[in-house]
Amino acid sequence: MNLENAASLVARIDYVESTGSTNTDLAEAAVLSVADYPDLSVLCAGTQTQGRGRSGRVWQSTAGESLSLSILVRPKNVSLEHYGWLPILAGLAMARFVASILPSAEVGFKWPNDVLVDSKKISGVLSELVGDGTGVVIGVGLNLAQSAEELPIEAATSLRLEGATVSFEAAVTGFLTEFRSLYDSFVNHRGDADASELRRSATAMCLSIGRRVRVMLPGDQTLEGKAIELDASGRLLIAVDGEHQLYAVAAGDIVHLRHN
Ligand code: BTN
Repeated sequence: MNLENAASLVARIDYVESTGSTNTDLAEAAVLSVADYPDLSVLCAGTQTQGRGRSGRVWQSTAGESLSLSILVRPKNVSLEHYGWLPILAGLAMARFVASILPSAEVGFKWPNDVLVDSKKISGVLSELVGDGTGVVIGVGLNLAQSAEELPIEAATSLRLEGATVSFEAAVTGFLTEFRSLYDSFVNHRGDADASELRRSATAMCLSIGRRVRVMLPGDQTLEGKAIELDASGRLLIAVDGEHQLYAVAAGDIVHLRHN
């Protein structure tokens, strides 16, 4: 595996053929050897045996056909209140990369960070605060070359199914190029998503805005309404049916309902 190009974009990059979960490994290493794992340390894997998705779901990373990558960030001078933007930033970076590969498809992200190609999921992000609170591990999975039978759900796709052949190395470099540019601007503006233009850029690629959505709340509760905009913290503001005030969703899953 030649990750020379990608290595120039980050502080450290490691590759393993197979592991349980790159998020778990990197989060552990980040706490055990703080000095060896600075801001922008990356771990990627050819396959994961215990890949984890959001909300406790399993994430499948087929050997030789998928990208599993985690980035440790330790954003300097960014207060915790702005950390909600980090997973969105990663989803936006991946959406930009995928859009550059598939220029004729509709590519964007479903809030907060599922990347969709013509409404099918191609990539997901799992972001976790490391144990001692000194950083965040942002894990991204990308379907590179799976066939429809190899994907876990019908509403998923891969770059190959969309007609593009992209190597593991090219995907790592392409994604990290987008990530690095967004992240540098975000950190240089101390996490201010307006000053760094992150809110504007994310809004432009967020497929949820203007859509009718169902929000899954903790405790099996749901609410429905129209997604209006991202607020300054990256929360999705929903005009809930029958209510006057906007409801801010900070975490969790949404479902896109029929087009309105
Ligand atoms: C989701 O869509 O539910 C999020 C999927 C995140 C998967 C990535 S693959 C690399 C990293 N390691 C993990 O165990 N999960 C993330």
